[in-house]
Amino acid sequence: MAGFGCAGSGSTTPSDIFSFANTDEFRTEHLHLDLAVDFDNRVLRGSATLRIRRIAAVASSIVLDTRDLSIAGTDFLSDTGEAIEAEHRFGDADDVLGTPLVVSVPARLRNDEELTLRVDYHTSPEASALQWLPPELTSGGKHPFLFSQSQAIHARSWVPLQDTPVVRITYTASIRTPPDLLAVMSADNDPDAKRTGAYYFEMPQPVPSYLLAIAVGDIYFAPIGDRTGVYAEPEIVDAAAFEFADTQKMLETAEAMFGPYRWDRYDLLILPPSFPYGGMENPRLSFLTPSLIAGDRSLVSVVAHELAHSWSGNLVTNATWRDSWLNEGCTSYLEHRLMQVIYGDERAAEENVLGYQELLLDFEDVKPEFQALAPNLDTVDEEDFQGTVAYHKGSLFLQYLEQAFGRDVFDAFIGKYFEEFAFRSITSEQFLDYLDEQLLSARPGIVSRAKAEEWLYQPGLPDDAVIPSSANLDGAEKMAHLWSQGEIDIADIPRSVWSPQATIHFINSLDADLSTEQLIELDEAMGLSSTRNAAIGKAWFIQVARRRHHPAYDQLGKYLRRYGRIWLIRPIYAALAQNGSDFELATELFTEARDTYHPLTNASIESALQRATKSGL
Ligand code: BES
Ligand code: ZN
Repeated sequence: MAGFGCAGSGSTTPSDIFSFANTDEFRTEHLHLDLAVDFDNRVLRGSATLRIRRIAAVASSIVLDTRDLSIAGTDFLSDTGEAIEAEHRFGDADDVLGTPLVVSVPARLRNDEELTLRVDYHTSPEASALQWLPPELTSGGKHPFLFSQSQAIHARSWVPLQDTPVVRITYTASIRTPPDLLAVMSADNDPDAKRTGAYYFEMPQPVPSYLLAIAVGDIYFAPIGDRTGVYAEPEIVDAAAFEFADTQKMLETAEAMFGPYRWDRYDLLILPPSFPYGGMENPRLSFLTPSLIAGDRSLVSVVAHELAHSWSGNLVTNATWRDSWLNEGCTSYLEHRLMQVIYGDERAAEENVLGYQELLLDFEDVKPEFQALAPNLDTVDEEDFQGTVAYHKGSLFLQYLEQAFGRDVFDAFIGKYFEEFAFRSITSEQFLDYLDEQLLSARPGIVSRAKAEEWLYQPGLPDDAVIPSSANLDGAEKMAHLWSQGEIDIADIPRSVWSPQATIHFINSLDADLSTEQLIELDEAMGLSSTRNAAIGKAWFIQVARRRHHPAYDQLGKYLRRYGRIWLIRPIYAALAQNGSDFELATELFTEARDTYHPLTNASIESALQRATKSGL
């Protein structure tokens, strides 16, 4: 859950401090990629052809974002396809932003409204968006695997483009791979595609650059419903189809609640374990961590979340990363609504409480000025400055509005909002103005504009926020105290009727001063160290690390080698590094595992370890 600050702006075309692109002068409308996937050299090689509209009459150069790209040449193409060579140069490189590529528009094209620019290039083996996995790091162990992660500002490391969510493009792509592998993209994947090594894709709906995505590997398809299915390596494709069997129902439920699904198919791609996130909402094809495959469908709220991004995020997009709560907060709210309808109020309430608990922990770490939903920033700050604030505080804001105006009124508002801003990128201020016009002023005396502004611009939560609660979790919490104090037996805990979420809350709620014997008893009775549920494992191993519970350290090490999802492992490394005696162990375990992790995971764990040093240990 990386976060970025950006200059706040009330204007409709905010400038994005995370891009060099001169979007006030030129805007890309369409991209064509022609790329060969070279696993031996770990590069993509070919060309990107951009159809660009002139916005300013006198502008004479186009600035694209790049990072570690090698440019072989830049040409403009005339209507007849004739190539007109153009001069290009790199501007100064920046650690965060990459390197601007400045292409001069030749004199004879300076009156053209529409330009076609072809950039011949190849990527670097270290491209920040791409992970090239050797066969050992896949399920099958026989074929290599490639996947991209473009959000937030990594698309520029595999495509030279205007890498800002304010610009939307349609795209097409010709991709060549080794003939025994399948390529998929955030586009019109064909479930019946033959393995030929030559693939063609089309994305006819305009999308921001962070939603460009590709994966190549020994990937097979299994259908779920008529518009849904799952892609995965053959070893796990059946387990995945079982785990995510509710996806079609989720899609139909979402359409009934939020308006038409505008993207044709909705499929899932299960990545190898090094995928750094729970999920990524690449249009038509969400990317998912295999750690969701728990066997009991208990972690599918991530699918509900990524699917919900088809409305909040992919359809209506944050204009800059400073407005990311519009993507993540709205999506977390829609996820909650989907979970309610499909799995019932109690399950949704449990997950809502766990999210709220996570938010409270983040409030302890996140500086007050970053606790605003729409922080006013003009500097690039360290990554992850906002934690989960955009997610859970954003969701609580919309839950608050829902409660205040009533579900029917609020649902009508949400549906209209998606219609109004479909395929556009907007700021928090545009949302606020629309909310004001449609609800706050239209139904005076319910929620004031000042109250909405408090949510957007002030730290913490307003006093009248609706605090999530769950009867099951309250029960589990009580049991945690009673058992900690020896007042009940482990056998009295009704685990067979508990959800995994209740078990997680139970673990999080244990008293501070448990004996080693108690922890061993608990571990054995509940099978915590060997659980197949990655979310339960996370909660447990954080406790193991905090309490320096050595009997489970081997299993903890195993867990850290099994998963590469940041959200699962970073807090365990942090807990180890901060427990007063295991900073070195944390560093050793990290050194052992880092070659199997994604570069983003490594960066995040490095920063967690660094923080631990800073906090004086
Ligand atoms: N879009 C995010 C992942 C992301 C955020 C990638 C910022 C890069 C920068 C995705 O939709 C997401 O939120 N994933 C969560 C899942 C969740 C909260 C249910 C995750 O990965 O944990
Ligand atoms: Zn999200």
